[in-house]
Amino acid sequence: MSWSPEQYERFKGERKQPFVDLAALVERRPHMHVVDLGCGTGELTRELHESLGADETVGIDNSETMLLKARAFGDELLRFERGDIEAFVSDRPFDLIFSNAALHWVPDHEQLLARLTSLLAPGGQLAIQMPDNDEHTSHRVAADVAARFGAAPRPNYVLPPARYAELLHRLGFQRQHVRVQIYGHLLPASSDVVEWVRGALLTHYEAELGARFDDFLATYREELQRALGEQRPYFYTYKRVLFWGSF
Ligand SMILES: C[S@@+](CC[C@H](N)C(=O)[O-])C[C@H]1O[C@@H](n2cnc3c(N)ncnc32)[C@H](O)[C@@H]1O
Repeated sequence: MSWSPEQYERFKGERKQPFVDLAALVERRPHMHVVDLGCGTGELTRELHESLGADETVGIDNSETMLLKARAFGDELLRFERGDIEAFVSDRPFDLIFSNAALHWVPDHEQLLARLTSLLAPGGQLAIQMPDNDEHTSHRVAADVAARFGAAPRPNYVLPPARYAELLHRLGFQRQHVRVQIYGHLLPASSDVVEWVRGALLTHYEAELGARFDDFLATYREELQRALGEQRPYFYTYKRVLFWGSF
């Protein structure tokens, strides 16, 4: 998967609010040992680490380009390591497992949440935010155009929100908060949606299509503009699932 920090950060301010909302669910406790799964450029991991006054935080990502940026935010208490969330294990338990906008790339959430829960210390917290916007025209058109290029749509691993509530309960979390939130982004024009999705969703199609990605992108741009029409400004809605649990 080719993650570009520059493309992802084009809407940095807009993309930050879900992180702020997720971090607000976390209870600050003394001497926390924290992991941020899919930490990306590390800037928000740094913010999380500082706002919690954590004893130790580790950011995990499988993209070397993201980690190159992230390492600039590290110090002796905050470090960044290359790792895959699908295979992530640790011999030391965490007081907080945090993940903002990354677990939707990882399959089998029932099994994943069970494994992550087993890595929590007594009284530990789990805090997850994931986009769930596949029903939006921006995502449907991308899947349709990809099909014409012979590529499969990006798999949607996000479960119905109520399922997360059930899973948290089944995994023994004493307290929980699960919600769906629609974030509205006022973009200068409908054509700017392409730049937004290039930073995230389209990285899947770029990896799938290789050299044909530029042709895909040109067709996607045209089809999306046809579907959305010329709107200035354009109110782009983005649905996300946020959940938190604590023992
Ligand atoms: C949309 S970015 C979010 C980055 C950061 N959490 C933030 O909020 O700015 C998703 C990140 O998850 C990482 N990622 C996706 N799948 C992963 C996996 N299986 N293991 C580790 N990292 C992964 C990507 O490399 C990318 O940096």
